[in-house]
Amino acid sequence: MISPADMAATHAAAFTQARPWSAGEFAELLAQRFCHAEGDRSCFALFRVIADEAELLTIATHPDLRRQGRAKNCMLRWHDRARNLGATQAFLDVAADNHAALALYSAIGYTENGRRPQYYPRAGAAPCDAVLMTCDLSQG
Ligand SMILES: CC(C)(COP(=O)(O)OP(=O)(O)OC[C@H]1O[C@@H](n2cnc3c(N)ncnc32)[C@H](O)[C@@H]1OP(=O)(O)O)[C@@H](O)C(=O)NCCC(=O)NCCS
Repeated sequence: MISPADMAATHAAAFTQARPWSAGEFAELLAQRFCHAEGDRSCFALFRVIADEAELLTIATHPDLRRQGRAKNCMLRWHDRARNLGATQAFLDVAADNHAALALYSAIGYTENGRRPQYYPRAGAAPCDAVLMTCDLSQG
């Protein structure tokens, strides 16, 4: 289990380009009946399952603990939970310049199915596209 305060701390350490989400924001999300968390302080994911669709809201691994398989394991665990809740498809969006996350999602079966041009603002640079990705959860 991970508390909203620990989520906020890991999120702030992990995300350098985006505004960190506060403990209060995490607590509000977790209070929603479709929203769930997986992981611990080293790596966690927040996801939502509505009917047969699951959406990844965020995932973060602490910068000191990367490339040890934590995010991959966390993704596979939340997929299992989403499947148990009835989801057959997962989706997410990711910045086109986030090469680590794109590699992670591709490695576990996500494929691109659309783009939102210039979706993410970038300080001092042009906005970055959002890549929309889906994964078939019925394949296990
Ligand atoms: C993306 C992120 C969650 C990956 O966490 P992680 O725990 O380091 O990832 P894993 O160790 O589980 O990596 C699994 C696979 O993903 C890919 N991958 C992960 N990080 C990568 C990187 N920096 N470069 C290239 N491939 C990478 C690799 O295929 C890796 O397998 P390998 O190590 O055997 O080659 C982490 O970099 C992070 O927290 N980034 C900041 C927050 C963020 O961008 N979240 C996603 C928002 S959509």
